[in-house]
Amino acid sequence: MSYHELYQRSVNDPEGFWREQAEALPWFQPPRQILGKDDSGHHRWFSGGQLNISPLALDRHVDDGRGDQTAIIHDSPATGTQTRYTFRELRDLVARFAGGLRELGVGKGDRVVIYMPMMPEAVIAMLACARLGAIHSVVFGGFQPHELAVRIDDAKPKVLLTASCGIEFSKVIPYKPLVDEAIRRSASPPSRTVLFQRAQCTADMDPERDLDWQDLMQTAKPVDPVPVDATHPLYILYTSGTTGKPKGVVRDTGGYAVALNFSMKYVYDLDPGDVFWTASDVGWVVGHSYIVYGPLIYGCTSVVYEGKPVRTPDAGAFWRVISEHQVKVFFTAPTAFRAVKKEDPEGKLLADYDISCLKAIYQAGERLDPPTYDWIKQITGLPVIDHWWQTETGWPIASNPMGVDPQPEKSGSATFPVPGYQIDVLDPDGQPLPAGEQGNLAIRLPLPPGCLPTLWQDEARFRSAYLERFPGYYDTSDGGCLDEDGYLFVMGRMDDVINVAGHRLSTGEMEELIGSHDAVAECAVVGLRDELKGEMPMGFVVLKNGADIDHTTLEQDLVEIVRDHIGAFACLRRVAIVQKLPKTRSGKILRKSIRQLSVEKDVPVPSTIDDPTSLDDIRGALEKAGMRTF
Ligand code: COA
Ligand code: AMP
Repeated sequence: MSYHELYQRSVNDPEGFWREQAEALPWFQPPRQILGKDDSGHHRWFSGGQLNISPLALDRHVDDGRGDQTAIIHDSPATGTQTRYTFRELRDLVARFAGGLRELGVGKGDRVVIYMPMMPEAVIAMLACARLGAIHSVVFGGFQPHELAVRIDDAKPKVLLTASCGIEFSKVIPYKPLVDEAIRRSASPPSRTVLFQRAQCTADMDPERDLDWQDLMQTAKPVDPVPVDATHPLYILYTSGTTGKPKGVVRDTGGYAVALNFSMKYVYDLDPGDVFWTASDVGWVVGHSYIVYGPLIYGCTSVVYEGKPVRTPDAGAFWRVISEHQVKVFFTAPTAFRAVKKEDPEGKLLADYDISCLKAIYQAGERLDPPTYDWIKQITGLPVIDHWWQTETGWPIASNPMGVDPQPEKSGSATFPVPGYQIDVLDPDGQPLPAGEQGNLAIRLPLPPGCLPTLWQDEARFRSAYLERFPGYYDTSDGGCLDEDGYLFVMGRMDDVINVAGHRLSTGEMEELIGSHDAVAECAVVGLRDELKGEMPMGFVVLKNGADIDHTTLEQDLVEIVRDHIGAFACLRRVAIVQKLPKTRSGKILRKSIRQLSVEKDVPVPSTIDDPTSLDDIRGALEKAGMRTF
């Protein structure tokens, strides 16, 4: 079937289209209704259906004869180990660990926070929660105690699962002190923690609260999966919004399973038994969907990589893993390839490996800039597929339909909307714009299965953040355009969210932190273009009258505050002191002008500006910091 036929079916007859997709999966009980509405008036998929995603991802493959196939390969240059788990082994470990969690009192609907590095036990933990109908919330290991505590307080977990350490390049990062500190700061701490002791670092245990993972496993009895409703939350994943409080994106079970299963062929052109490698982290949505749930539900082998694109040990790491594990499809963020390109500009290290197994390279997490696209294409000669999605959607919104009807690639474009997503480009008043014009990317309701039904215990914020601005639409907060051939170009965020090395961060949160410094009267944090990381935050600070602090000390203080509260990956490294921030007469900071000043010589003075001399001040500050790059 052609892309256009398939797509038209999905929007003209969404219920028929998704009923067929749902039939591709075994349910304990098939859905009573394909598309309906909940009590709050929001669309819900597959009501009345009962399933559990853990046996979908594990037990049924064992029953269908895939028990001896490798389910996950943990390839860890960080620890110098490689471990494989078959579907049978993984099923047994998950069933046993779920039994252990049940003994700790974890049951359907209870929350479990998972704060772990890229190790197989993180995958086991997620699937074990799912088996019990417990709701997991994975927190990225790079977050500091403050951020972990904020998430604990929102999710109110019964149990927290962790490991003794993560490893960044060769640096061992002990997790236990971070967990202890987060629990100390938390108003709703978990009653128990379960910790996996890794060989690289032994954590001190509190006998009252902490349990050793292996001890738990030794006495635990395997448990069967608990049937849950299709609309039951599988997980909460916190993501940055425009304020300091992260948004708890809720993912339901049935819609997610159906959408991921569909995407494995449609988007990625994979077949059961193929090897899929997503080089990301289980702390991000990409890790949830395409390291854990998608590949396993579909019967693929998934590579769990605990390493970096470079310096573990070199810029040939991607090629090594691809050839060694016979990876068919590889997915990572453009920033990772920019790091490889920086260290090996001619791609010479590729010559050491046979990557003929690889059929396509997928990119997401940030805009795939044409020079990076061209470079990957030039050195590999493979299809390079830019596809666009968000934590909120859980799976791609736009992609090249590689599994049904591959389309010619256009550099800079994520190709076409995926079936189920109706994308319009809207002006600020919500009016659709013609082809070629840039505006707000909005998705007509209902969103397809798999996308967020709400925010965790914050229905009001769900409405205000996504549904109110453009009635009848989900507001993506991304900007872009559709060209006359229907290709979608996503240019980046229209709100105060920035993207640093594929990590989504809130400038609003950094501003709240910087604003807490005694010497600071007001501040703005702006994402400036960066060759490697896509964007890097820079702070602009107005001092309080009489503040007695020099620039170097203030910059060090503020960099440290952001590292300590959010994490080093936020990468705030430069802060400038200015006399005045450029603002409109109504007091809105002119971030766009600040960004423009960093990359353009002649920047027009906005007609709404309060005081045009404030731009000169910013220009000078950027020049001094070496941040005017053109
Ligand atoms: N735990 C603890 N610290 C972490 C961390 C983690 N999981 N991840 C990053 N950090 C720290 C790093 O140690 C570093 O600390 P430092 O400033 O003390 O050196 C800091 O955060 C910045 O790290 P990073 O952004 O990773 O920069 P880098 O220069 O070390 O590496 C890349 C650059 C491009 C190799 C790396 O950013 C990368 O692999 N990016 C891909 C991101 C990705 O996969 N995103 C998922 C979206 S699909
Ligand atoms: P996250 O929720 O962390 O996955 O980040 C989602 C954001 O990343 C989106 O809102 C976009 O701004 C950006 N993004 C993701 N994929 C792409 C893409 N293919 N092209 C452009 N931006 C992207």
